[in-house]
Amino acid sequence: MEYVLAPSILAADFKKLGAQMQETEANGARYLHFDVMDGEFVPNISFGMPVLKSIRSATNQIFDVHLMIMEPVRYVEEFAKAGADIITVHYEACQDVGATLEKIRSLGVKAGLSVKPGTPVEAVKEFLPLLDMVLIMSVEPGFGGQKFMPAALERLREIRGMIAAQERPIDLQVDGGVDAGNVRDVLDAGANVIVAGSAVFRGSPAENTRAFMEIFQERLQ
Ligand code: DX5
Ligand code: ZN
Repeated sequence: MEYVLAPSILAADFKKLGAQMQETEANGARYLHFDVMDGEFVPNISFGMPVLKSIRSATNQIFDVHLMIMEPVRYVEEFAKAGADIITVHYEACQDVGATLEKIRSLGVKAGLSVKPGTPVEAVKEFLPLLDMVLIMSVEPGFGGQKFMPAALERLREIRGMIAAQERPIDLQVDGGVDAGNVRDVLDAGANVIVAGSAVFRGSPAENTRAFMEIFQERLQ
């Protein structure tokens, strides 16, 4: 199993974004997580394509784009052009989930599907053949800095079981309230792509990233 850290730039200091992002990359964070919010699917507005475009040439990190927007199919092409490597959409935001995932795949981008804490995990089952990643939210989407919901652990275990029955490897991502104190629990539950915003960008992104890497390393020994 490969473990990956995906720092969420929502928690970065935007006036130092380039430098902070490079600190995470230099210390082992292979992904960069972009929380795109539209003020409609979630009660908050963040940023869009121009931010991806502007930093695309400054890093080799995988751009992991979490679209918290209604009918994301309308924008996936633009996010692909802006440099997205993985696009995750919400089950609850799509009229036609299958068509949305097909569209993402047709652009040569990896496809992810996310469920909010209140949506049964069974919802993703029928889409697994179209997926490269499943994202289990461990907070209500919309804001960084919230407290991890422990109910996510059982949900991760359930999805990990479903994924194991598939022929292709599918990543399992967890997002919301994850820090160096609880990350072992989410790894135990089967997550392998770990999103962390505040836990990376509050304080020293370099040191915080290294702390996650050390915990991943324990698992690989
Ligand atoms: C919440 C976002 C998360 C969030 C993570 O809607 O999807 O990615 O920014 O931030 P922390 O790690 O601070 O909970
Ligand atoms: Zn996110």
